[in-house]
Amino acid sequence: MVCRMKRSAFLLPFVLLASPLFAATSGEEIYQQRCARCHEQVNDRIPPREALQKMPAARILRALDAGPMMAVAFTISREDRIAVASYLGTNAPVAGPPASAFCADHTVKIAAKPKTYWNGWSPGQNNARFQPGDLAGLSTDQVRGLKLKWAFGFDGDATAFAPPTVIDGQVFVGSAGGLVHAMRAETGCLQWVFQANGPVRSSILEVPLGTQHALLFGDMTGWFYAVKAETGKLLWKAQVETHDSTRLTGGPVAHDGIVYVPVASWEETRSADVDYNCCTFRGSVVALRIRDGKQLWKTWMTDAPVERGRTPRGTINYGPSGVGVWSTPTLDTKRNLLYVGTGDNYSAPATETSDAVIALDMATGHMVWIKQLTAEDVFNGSCSRAPSTCGPDFDFGSSPILTHAPDGRELLLAGQKSGIVWALDPAKKGEVVWQTRVGKGGTNGGVQWGMASDGQNVFATVSDVKRMLQTDPTDPRRNRVDPNEGGGLTALRVADGSQEWHVAATPCPPGAPEGCGPSQPGAVTEIPGAVFSTSTDGHIRAYSVEDGKLLWDFNTMRDFQTVNGVKGYGGSIDGPGAVVVNGMVFISSGYPRNGGVPGNVLLAFGPE
Ligand code: HEC
Repeated sequence: MVCRMKRSAFLLPFVLLASPLFAATSGEEIYQQRCARCHEQVNDRIPPREALQKMPAARILRALDAGPMMAVAFTISREDRIAVASYLGTNAPVAGPPASAFCADHTVKIAAKPKTYWNGWSPGQNNARFQPGDLAGLSTDQVRGLKLKWAFGFDGDATAFAPPTVIDGQVFVGSAGGLVHAMRAETGCLQWVFQANGPVRSSILEVPLGTQHALLFGDMTGWFYAVKAETGKLLWKAQVETHDSTRLTGGPVAHDGIVYVPVASWEETRSADVDYNCCTFRGSVVALRIRDGKQLWKTWMTDAPVERGRTPRGTINYGPSGVGVWSTPTLDTKRNLLYVGTGDNYSAPATETSDAVIALDMATGHMVWIKQLTAEDVFNGSCSRAPSTCGPDFDFGSSPILTHAPDGRELLLAGQKSGIVWALDPAKKGEVVWQTRVGKGGTNGGVQWGMASDGQNVFATVSDVKRMLQTDPTDPRRNRVDPNEGGGLTALRVADGSQEWHVAATPCPPGAPEGCGPSQPGAVTEIPGAVFSTSTDGHIRAYSVEDGKLLWDFNTMRDFQTVNGVKGYGGSIDGPGAVVVNGMVFISSGYPRNGGVPGNVLLAFGPE
């Protein structure tokens, strides 16, 4: 079994599926159990089995991993997805982008000293998501007049969740289909594409490597890559985690020739399946040498799980587990520390490392201190059946921000799914300086993907999405979004956590598509004068830093004519926030995962 999984991970990204390793029977069984109820009925919307059998297996796998079937496939292991895709589909390859999508000149050049850049998850290593004025290149007046410059469509994808890295007019961006793109900021034309093994949603970090440059990023199957920025050719790749449910969502950070990679997983959700032996994944941070990908250290966030009895049904319990690291680590080069926010435990026993901010020694990976902010938080997909035995699911999904308060004192600001923003003292092992509630919190509530701060204020949006069970049996989304619940943007003073202002979420208009909701899970971005926030309602909005007044509002939930000829459409926005650099604003739109509206576009805006 294990050996088969490993093979598949090597051979079978989205490209090559002609493998005889996978017995047709198991693919057929999975089809009967997981697909037939929808695909064997006559319904205009649903492609029948005969239509699926004409599709390349690679495209079916992509539909399961990153496309319209994502929510259906969520509890299906990758091995089983591959089995059902190869059972149904043909061996034909999936076509790459057409020649017309490419620039006339494919050259990618990166200056030794770029003038404008947004490189990785945040413009600075402190993860404050604050882009200084000279790099943002947008006045408040220009923000008011932002117009769509171009849209780029991710072919075959139903979600667009990767943030671009932009360096002097050069864009690098991943996609749900696992294609990483190099394109020009002015036009969106392509220079090269690179196919990863799995969906790439992590931010991409560009680092100099000799006379050239490397792009560092992870995918949603546990592989981490170094690709030559100039050509898109692979330099090396390393599987930083082999657990079947691994996902690398947080972006990497680098210092002194070493790249630090955070590791999370979706195993928590797989235990929604009553027969799943929960749980064996444990989060980690991995340090790799940039030169060759050699692993220098890997620090697990819990001890190794061991068997802990069985459920009445006979399913095996394993623990401890969980404590994924979902977000980009924060570098403190003064103290040689790396700060990470951690998620909950998936199974008992609970550990002291879950729902915590943890400081790791950059050289060795040793835990220097652990500040747990919610204890005893054991949560997994079976909790919907027995909620009383479960914790509240209060992960830290976003990066701690290392900043200076106006009085010069250093603080770590951490936003939690509990709806609380914490200020911790990095000089005192994370001692709590203040805490302020900005939302209700919950499984998909509170602060999710990131806050922004300029040192005076910290800007936090909350998700607080309310998910309801899907009532349409043919809708591949497992959940529906409550169109009236969630959202809100709060500005807090960094000095003491008191509120500067608050802007309530905008309700969805009557007649909005199913999946519209006011929640604001996406990361916040700040430039001098403006705070950018996105929403499940598909809007990207800019607010005045001073008083929260709305400066600009664009609804992405519509169809787009794309520069690469793909049928483009926007939907809910979740995950990364706006990237602002050199007078342009980039945002990707489409996020059906929590019941939101699908979409497949990267949008670029500029002043008139
Ligand atoms: C709950 C109903 C439902 C289930 C279960 C379901 N599908 Fe689908 N499937 C749909 C619908 C509806 C569509 C049309 C796309 C849409 O409307 O989002 C679709 C579309 C597809 C497509 C076309 C995607 C594309 O790129 O155009 C593929 C491939 C597919 N399904 C494969 C599967 C496989 C394989 C399974 C089982 C593992 C499965 N589906 C289970 C409802 C379902």
